[in-house]
Amino acid sequence: MAQFRGSVHWPVTVELNPGLDGAVTNETAIGYVDGQAGRLNYRGYSIEQLCEHATFEEVTHLLVFGRLPDRAAFQRFKRDLASSREIPGGVIAALRQLPRDANPMAALQAGAAALGAFDPHADDGATHMADPANAVEGETRTALRIVSQLATVGAAIARLRTGGHLVAPDPELGHTANFLYMLTGNRPDALTERVMDVAMILHADHGMNASTFTGMVVHSSMSDMYSSVAAAIGSLKGPLHGGANERALAELMTIQGPEDARRYVTETLDAGRRVLGFGHRVYKAYDPRATVFRSYAKQLCEQKHESKLFATAEAVEKAVIERLGGKGIFPNVDFYSGIVYHELGIDTRLFTVLFAVARVSGWVARILEYLPDNRIFRPRAVYTGPETLSYTPIDQR
Ligand code: MLT
Repeated sequence: MAQFRGSVHWPVTVELNPGLDGAVTNETAIGYVDGQAGRLNYRGYSIEQLCEHATFEEVTHLLVFGRLPDRAAFQRFKRDLASSREIPGGVIAALRQLPRDANPMAALQAGAAALGAFDPHADDGATHMADPANAVEGETRTALRIVSQLATVGAAIARLRTGGHLVAPDPELGHTANFLYMLTGNRPDALTERVMDVAMILHADHGMNASTFTGMVVHSSMSDMYSSVAAAIGSLKGPLHGGANERALAELMTIQGPEDARRYVTETLDAGRRVLGFGHRVYKAYDPRATVFRSYAKQLCEQKHESKLFATAEAVEKAVIERLGGKGIFPNVDFYSGIVYHELGIDTRLFTVLFAVARVSGWVARILEYLPDNRIFRPRAVYTGPETLSYTPIDQR
């Protein structure tokens, strides 16, 4: 509890929640994270069902429009996404100006902003403020173009980093297969495509996480969809959010093997540090996304004869749960997703870009859901500074 110096009743007592812990911002029908039970659903469908049966494109349709598409609607939806993949030459030119070794997420953020700069209709949403239905329709079109084009921008960034030529999108391929194709220059085999599609589903949405909230805050001022996505990318970049799986994998790789795991966990925890990839603000149970990633990590490691990495991860998991499971600390999505991406041959520095290319569906879905009853986000802070100072001219300080 803290004293809040508000203008009406001063002072009043308020509950101060650093990091907005426990704060509730809005109603949503998009997805639900049950942190106690370790369950996640998108619009009522469990993440396990979606990972087993759906594609990322279906899930994007589900998140944005609130229902799974029938076959005809799905064909139309896929065709629309595929036909938006090309990005303006000016965006590619802008990406080429960035240092080759720039943080890929900084480049992705710049790319998202550049897409907006090259879209003459980027600001149309704001002009429809008095007519929310029109605004939703226009912003939905823009949102889906961004979902499609962010994958092209992400792949271009990956290619430019290594000096490779850019790979033009293939309209015959689905969204995920095409993304992998633009990323690597090769059409993926069925397993690689499926694993990546599941990874994209798992990363598509996750409640009011920091990047989603950031995107919503930006859009609530009736700024445009590109600015909102660019801002969300900036938030996801941080190591406490999307950047976590890259660091979790790097840490895991410093461990010699399963026999070294217990020493590592003990030393890390005794030194008061966190074992990366464990614990979550919302989950007090096993993160259901980690369960799915774990089984793919196992399968891929076995297939590539890299069982030692998976065995080490399992041993770390066991040692952490023995010490901290009672406090609700279990693997989160980052722990096994890094292994999966690594086994798919993806450069570690691109992990967060992959996350963004998937999470953009959740960002835009939640922004669109909030739009009809939009209210600009405007929390308050508890003022703790002085109140009655007198101004001293600069030469007398
Ligand atoms: C996410 O998927 O966004 C992360 O697990 C972080 C979160 O939910 O707060």
